[in-house]
Formats: sequence, C-alpha cells, structure tokens
Amino acid sequence: MTHARIEIAPSILASNFARLGEEIRMVEQAGAELIHVDVMDGHFVPNISIGIPVVESLRKATHLPLDVHLMIEQPEEYIEEFVRAGASRVLIHEEATVHLDRALAMIREQGAEAGAAINPATPVVMLSEVLDKLDTVLVMSVNPGFGGQKFIRGALEKIRQLNQWRSRYNASFRIEVDGGVDLENVAELAQAGANTFVAGTSIFHASDPAEATRQLRKLAREALSQKV
Ligand code: DX5
Ligand code: ZN
Repeated sequence: MTHARIEIAPSILASNFARLGEEIRMVEQAGAELIHVDVMDGHFVPNISIGIPVVESLRKATHLPLDVHLMIEQPEEYIEEFVRAGASRVLIHEEATVHLDRALAMIREQGAEAGAAINPATPVVMLSEVLDKLDTVLVMSVNPGFGGQKFIRGALEKIRQLNQWRSRYNASFRIEVDGGVDLENVAELAQAGANTFVAGTSIFHASDPAEATRQLRKLAREALSQKV
C-alpha cells in the first residue's frame, strides 16, 4: 500500500484570530488540504485556546476538512459536540483518557475520522492495540500547549516505526506530525513516512503564508519521489 498523499494542515493557533476568515482563505487558496484546530483546556496542557463555537464558525467559513486536535482531559465527554460543530477528524491524546479504545470508537460512531495523538514522552507501542480504530496517528514533535516551539527530533524515529507497522500489518492509518514543522525538516519527515504536516508558525508567521504552504508541500512531495 502506498501512502503518497501529502496533506498540509495549517494550524490556526499561529494565525491572527482577529482576521481568522481571511487567514483561512489565504491558505485555502494556496491549496491547504485541511485546517488544523488546536483545542486546549488549561489542564491537559498549560494553555487555553479555542472551543466549540470557533469550530462552528470555521465550518461555515471553509469547505476544507477541520482537523480538530483536542488537548483536553477526558476528551470522550466532548467528542459528540465537536463532531456536531463540524469536526471532520477528531484527534484525542492517548495520555488524556483511560478509555482510548472506547473514545476512538465513539469518534467513528459520530461520523468523524478518528485519530490518536502521542506526546514526545509517549512511545508508539501505547497505540499497538488500537491500530484498527485509527484513521490517523498524530506524532507530537513538541510538548503540546504552544506554537512556535523547537522540533524534537525523536519524533522522526517514531514516524519510521509507525511506517513499518503500517506496512507490516497492512494498515492504512495516516501519520501526522505536529510541532516545529518547517521548510528545514519537512523533507526528512516525509521520507520517514509522515503524510500530514501540521504547520503553524512556519506558515502564518512567514512573510507569504500562501507561498510557505506551497513550498512545504513541494518539498514533501519531492522527498517522497526521491525515496528509494
Ligand atoms: C501545539 C499545537 C500545534 C501548534 C503547532 O500544542 O498542537 O498544532 O499550533 O505550532 P508550530 O507549527 O508553530 O509548532
Ligand atoms: Zn495541534
């Protein structure tokens, strides 16, 4: 099975919330495949961001799928509401629930794609028993909570390992990477097996966010085509 489809997912956390609609249109026109929405509760991570009403507004403002990254404790309590608000994909943290299997099943039952995220300190083996319930594995390459942090290189090895599992078990989950993704590391990440690239700072703080979006995709695609 090939997983050549590259997706660039701009993270609106780094955008200007006062002009969110325009920011979304800019990356949409640049061909972004989805919009990454970071939801933080001030408990699971030491920061508070946005919630259900913003997802509802975004749903009306773009036709792109919304990739909703829940950095919240007990995510199962909010899955239904986020899907109803317009989340196309719901990503929950393995560390945030003791009932990961049930929570992932709930996401699919609600009609969204299910993803599990792992923090930098969490090994990929924590997901080995739920692979059949996953549409996406999200490898965090920073400790979640803030944009603009430095990429943690240990993520690369985790992506390689997941990529091996995917072939070995003939699975079809996407591998997504989030945190410090930029023009310097996107090629290496694509070669390791990542398909979906979340980028906040490297897109929205670039002098030309549309061009940054296109460049990220171009570098990821080229890296894949060079892969032996
Ligand atoms: C971090 C968030 C990320 C963040 C990435 O907690 O999950 O999605 O917005 O931002 P950058 O690309 O700036 O590291
Ligand atoms: Zn995120």
